[in-house]
Amino acid sequence: MITMWKLLCVLAVCASQIVSGYRILVVFPFPNKSHSILGHGVVRVLLDAGHQVTYITNSPMKSSSPNLRQVDVSDNVNHFPINAFNLETFLQNQIRTDDITFFYEAFFVLNKATIANPNVQALMGDPAQEFDLVFVEWMFSELMSGLSAVYNCPYVWFSSMEPHWMILELIDEALNPAYTTEIMSLNSAPLTFTERVSELYGQLHTKAYKAIHYDSLERQAYEKGFGPFVAAKGRVLPPWEDVKYNASLMLANAHVSMGEATRLPQSFKPIGGYHIDPKTAPLPQDLQNIMDNASNGVIYFSMGSTLQSKDLPHEIKTSLLKMFGKLKQTVLWKFEENVPNLPKNVKIIKWAPQPSILAHPNCILFITHGGLLSTTETIHYGVPTIGIPAFADQFLNVKRSVKKGIAKMVYLSYNLADELKEAIEEMIGNPSYRQRVQELSEVYHDRPAPPAAELAHWVRHVIRTRGAPHLRSPALLVPWYQKLYLDLAAVVFVVIALLFVVVKRCLLCLVSSEKVKKS
Ligand SMILES: *[C@@H]1O[C@H](CO)[C@@H](O)[C@H](O)[C@H]1NC(C)=O
Ligand SMILES: *[C@@H]1O[C@H](CO)[C@@H](O)[C@H](O)[C@H]1NC(C)=O
Ligand SMILES: *[C@@H]1O[C@H](CO)[C@@H](O)[C@H](O)[C@H]1NC(C)=O
Repeated sequence: MITMWKLLCVLAVCASQIVSGYRILVVFPFPNKSHSILGHGVVRVLLDAGHQVTYITNSPMKSSSPNLRQVDVSDNVNHFPINAFNLETFLQNQIRTDDITFFYEAFFVLNKATIANPNVQALMGDPAQEFDLVFVEWMFSELMSGLSAVYNCPYVWFSSMEPHWMILELIDEALNPAYTTEIMSLNSAPLTFTERVSELYGQLHTKAYKAIHYDSLERQAYEKGFGPFVAAKGRVLPPWEDVKYNASLMLANAHVSMGEATRLPQSFKPIGGYHIDPKTAPLPQDLQNIMDNASNGVIYFSMGSTLQSKDLPHEIKTSLLKMFGKLKQTVLWKFEENVPNLPKNVKIIKWAPQPSILAHPNCILFITHGGLLSTTETIHYGVPTIGIPAFADQFLNVKRSVKKGIAKMVYLSYNLADELKEAIEEMIGNPSYRQRVQELSEVYHDRPAPPAAELAHWVRHVIRTRGAPHLRSPALLVPWYQKLYLDLAAVVFVVIALLFVVVKRCLLCLVSSEKVKKS
């Protein structure tokens, strides 16, 4: 009888999943094109897997799926220093991009604005709304994980970057700075003595900043932002520290072919490339003709979506055009304005179907800012690159590619055209870059399952196993001084000190009794 009931229950659960899937809240509040592409990718995969998705996004998708509800936080652009991030500002070194605390502050403001957004308030205030899982992007702030307290459900972190200590600390422990680098570091392993010291300093500095300043702000924002909604549901708000370290999993837009063979906990799953449609869309006819006709190959030049080529100073633009005009290759330049007096072999495109361009066999070189998505796409399609990094993770991405032998790096400067010319000649003359990137592309594609399938699998796994507690790292339970055995060191120190005192006492006794004997 009982087994009959069990069977019925199992059938009912299966049926409910076939019919409606799970209810998942996906949170990507950062107003940045690349991050929206990653968020949209997650939503598409979850919808395809049959789930009901509620999506907190700064740039709502064009989708008519009845299983998708979008919560618009496009007002977030007003709460993030976007305009500070253009090429001109970076050329003039107006922002110190090596100062991570700048990012913590900016994203803290952004996440508070997301919580305060009327659309998000309405969502949290709706008593009928429930979720089986919260899926939230980590960007220098853990605040949004508080949504899991509101809905009393497990949550999964999403990381847009290769694994680094700040995110691994949330699910396991920080990486060793002796052989891993900060996300915005200009160093790459193997590190020299001074590099190792500077990586250690960076980690300690950020930890101190968080402990002294940031953590308490975040706790207050958590209590103020989510407390009332949890209370309205008749529950007690769990302590911030418990929520912050309670992620079931971290899914990352990362893969060993693009990053490094970093040691990872069981709850970290690299799914880099999940957002790329395995079926490449066809090129628009005019672009297809241009690329088909380029008998000497095509050089594709794009500075990504955040930085725009039009922000380049005039003298750099004209010198680049002159240099490109002298090449045999066709140059496709993603440029947001019309350009007069274009050389014959240079084509300007205002919008670039980047994957389709990179997938074309005539695309022989990609000149890029080295953003993470571009890095993923070059390895996916096997195209060597010249990186012109400007800020954030771009230096690290480009340096990694250089180390892998698939790229050259050129610094953003007023001398850009000359340096670029030299790099182009080297890249085109030397076939090793192309061979190497195609080898890496093989590594990238050779996986047990496509990354989108892995994403869907792990999300389902977390919900079915009620938060996947079996994946949780035991390191989360051990305080730092115990990991360093400082308690043992203290015991050893005390024992040695005691021994020292005892021995000294005995010796003194001996000496004084000798003296007594002698006298
Ligand atoms: C490409 O080549 C074909 C045939 O050689 C020609 O008809 C076409 O006009 C060319 N297209 C472009 C964009 O140059
Ligand atoms: C947008 O995100 C990409 C990928 O993380 C990054 O390279 C770029 O610097 C970001 N832009 C801004 C304005 O932070
Ligand atoms: C932590 O996650 C587990 C599994 O999802 C859940 O049962 C528990 O209530 C969560 N704890 C807190 C404090 O959120």
